[in-house]
Amino acid sequence: MIKHETIEKNIGLMAFFMVIAVSIGGLTQIVPLFFQDVTNTPVEGMKPRNALELEGRDIYIANGCVQCHSQMIRPFRAETERYGHYSVAGESVWDHPFLWGSKRTGPDLARVGGRYSDDWHRAHLYNPRNVVPESIMPAYPFLVERKLDGKDTAKKMEVLRVLGVPYTDEDIAGAKDAVKGKTEMDALVAYLQGLGTIIKSKR
Ligand code: HEC
Repeated sequence: MIKHETIEKNIGLMAFFMVIAVSIGGLTQIVPLFFQDVTNTPVEGMKPRNALELEGRDIYIANGCVQCHSQMIRPFRAETERYGHYSVAGESVWDHPFLWGSKRTGPDLARVGGRYSDDWHRAHLYNPRNVVPESIMPAYPFLVERKLDGKDTAKKMEVLRVLGVPYTDEDIAGAKDAVKGKTEMDALVAYLQGLGTIIKSKR
């Protein structure tokens, strides 16, 4: 039998037991989340992103929007007053990877869908100072010049389907045509306009 004092005086042993204690604490919190309906069932009425929105999401990732914008409204009054209903896990079950983020240089975007017009987003992304004079957000004027070819869109959907996103064969077959010829701006705006609308519409 090891005495507690022995553990306290031996840093190696101490570290070993600390890792075990922390792991048990972590596992009891994390493992059940994989099996609870509330964390792994999509919110009622949710549809997978269409092909254009999906490409928009990749553009959002590629341009580092997540470095300045979270997509996670916490259940506090100050947040829900400003952004709307707090985020629920069921909204993110089809997001691979999720884009909750951890930095808010700009506002949270979890429910930005429908808050502004498409034109507002275009003007804002082209140069944020056009619509918000004091903005420090970078300008993304090149988005209007870059055209999508849709070459990989179907493949991306197939991979997401393996991960559990319920895309139909029809969705996948039509993906390339739905995206081809559209600009990155079109796709990004479509993505933003779809964010968080499923719960907002219920309020
Ligand atoms: C350097 C940090 C930074 C980056 C990177 C950034 N933003 Fe922003 N964003 C801001 C700030 C600050 C604001 C608030 C001022 C404004 O509205 O322009 C903002 C505002 C916004 C808004 C308006 C939100 C609202 O509720 O009013 C949207 C939409 C937005 N950003 C989208 C994006 C997208 C899409 C990208 C990536 C292409 C991006 N941002 C990249 C800092 C950033």
